[in-house]
Amino acid sequence: MNRTLGVCYYPEHWPEEIWAEDARRMVEAGLTWVRIGEFAWSRLEPSEGDAHFDWLDRAIATLGAAGLRVILGTPTATPPRWVLDKHPDMLALDAAGRARGFGSRRHYCFSHQGYLAECRRIVTKLALRYGANPHVAAWQTDNEYGCHDTTISYSAAARDAFRDWCAQHYQSPEALNRAWGNVFWSMDYASFDEIGLPNLTVTEPNPAHAMAFRRFSSDQVVAFNRAQTEILRRHTDAPLIHNYMGRITEFDHFALGEALDIASWDSYPIGFLMDRMDADEAHKARYLQQGDPDFQAFHHDLYRAVGRGRWWIMEQQPGPVNWAPWNPAPLPGMVRLWTWEAFAHGAETVCFFRWRQAPFAQEQMHAGLLRPDSSAAPGLAEAAEVAREIAQAPQAGTKCAKVALIFDYPSAWAWQVQPQGADFDYFRLVFAAYRSLRRLGLSVDVIAPDTDLAGYRLVLAPGIFTLSDALKARLAAHDGIVIVGPRAGSKTPDFTIPLPLPPALPGLDVAVSHVESLPPGHLREVAGGGAIAHWYEHLDGTAEPLVTLETGAAVMVGAGNLRYLGAWPMPGLWDKIIAAACAQAGLATEPMPEGLRLRDTGRERFVFNYAAHPQSYRGQPIPAAGVLRLALDG
Ligand code: GAL
Repeated sequence: MNRTLGVCYYPEHWPEEIWAEDARRMVEAGLTWVRIGEFAWSRLEPSEGDAHFDWLDRAIATLGAAGLRVILGTPTATPPRWVLDKHPDMLALDAAGRARGFGSRRHYCFSHQGYLAECRRIVTKLALRYGANPHVAAWQTDNEYGCHDTTISYSAAARDAFRDWCAQHYQSPEALNRAWGNVFWSMDYASFDEIGLPNLTVTEPNPAHAMAFRRFSSDQVVAFNRAQTEILRRHTDAPLIHNYMGRITEFDHFALGEALDIASWDSYPIGFLMDRMDADEAHKARYLQQGDPDFQAFHHDLYRAVGRGRWWIMEQQPGPVNWAPWNPAPLPGMVRLWTWEAFAHGAETVCFFRWRQAPFAQEQMHAGLLRPDSSAAPGLAEAAEVAREIAQAPQAGTKCAKVALIFDYPSAWAWQVQPQGADFDYFRLVFAAYRSLRRLGLSVDVIAPDTDLAGYRLVLAPGIFTLSDALKARLAAHDGIVIVGPRAGSKTPDFTIPLPLPPALPGLDVAVSHVESLPPGHLREVAGGGAIAHWYEHLDGTAEPLVTLETGAAVMVGAGNLRYLGAWPMPGLWDKIIAAACAQAGLATEPMPEGLRLRDTGRERFVFNYAAHPQSYRGQPIPAAGVLRLALDG
């Protein structure tokens, strides 16, 4: 597969007379792909029964004639006003029971059958008309499922669908009552029709109820997407893609991705740093115009797994965005760096968002490759530079890493349902482990829990809510070093404490007797240096302590290749634990200077300098915001 570039374009935003010139300039810049259509529903169907596809025919023809390959989006993220008027109860309700209104986007509930029928109808029309169009070389379903907190809805449609879901899962109200422990506060149900949604309860709802609702909500997104892919598959052979997001965990991307050919995600490094990262002010200041050095890479590695090896960037920041609290511009070189970083992690295609900055509506302060007057914005030259560079290095792909980090979406829901410590966040825990691996110069595969572990010399499984017997057996039998925990396997799928007490790993005599969560700033020192924070588990059993608190109490125990970690390590302790595990696993580590990160692809080593000053790697200079490529033997 060759590395390619593309751009997001909205022909419906611009006079038709300039489409051909836009297309010519895209090709001139070295772009191959153009994504269109994902918000165009009101111009395709201005009112019920009124179809206007002629402009889209001409847009596709114009772009295709210039030599571009079109990614056509289904427009279901932006239902027009008449669809809402026809289905006034299609809006999602928030946890306070308020409808989320018209006037922006994603104003729909995944469970609403009337809206689903409208989606099926418009997708069928598009598929019939463009499924065999030679210029339409890929499809995008909807746009950013879950964006703007839209996975979960407390509508009547969601409630009815949830009752059905419960009936299918539990078969009888008695079985549900037993599984959830509804005897606890006289919460027993006599019929599935009595079950409500877990919002607006007096105090917290039963965590089993809340968790079931989170599983259901994820399933609804997966089913909504599948309704579209089933139609598209009947009419096209082009690959089907969805554009996922950064740090969105509300639905199971692995499950959704099964219906798609390629995973893609929308990468806004500086927006994420300002808006979506747990980082102190010094860190944010250091990377203000570069973005965090690990956040993009983590998602590249995650979505490579979601796409079963095939993944793209569907949108990448080309300049300042509009949606973070503050929106600095990328340092010169960063647009190129981000693009190469995606390729180094195996991306086939990187598309920029967007072609021309829109002078109107919500995103008028969001940069494009062009300014609103069509002159070039700084991102365009960097995109063109990468286009020239990939012409010399076309081959995409990356081999498996030696380190695997397990990521599990239900665990993110579980610890939101029951954090136990207010700042216990699953993504934050996994990302802390990932950062440490990267600080040690390691290339990482993020993997789903059911992935084959063969070939990995180090496997990390932090925070996994449930450990099935099969997964426990695979982890315990693995011939690389395996670090499980904290909090791993600490609940059953129905959100009860398992017996025997967790983690109950084969061959490791350790049980968590009780846990403590610690408020911010409360550290416990570890013997020999380092500290733990947030979370501490008191461990019983005869397994050998490998890391202890200064008091002598165990933090991590192990036997053979298997270790159980019963605490949340501070960064320095993560590094120590991982470096020791790597030493035992025969994996070389190389502590990285601040801002420098490595990625090995098999043939090449990429070195990325996220710092705002020049650095060097093994004697070779790397400019600020620069990329170094080194050949690897073997
Ligand atoms: C994405 C979205 C785009 C655009 C962009 C702005 O989340 O998919 O439509 O809104 O953000 O940065």
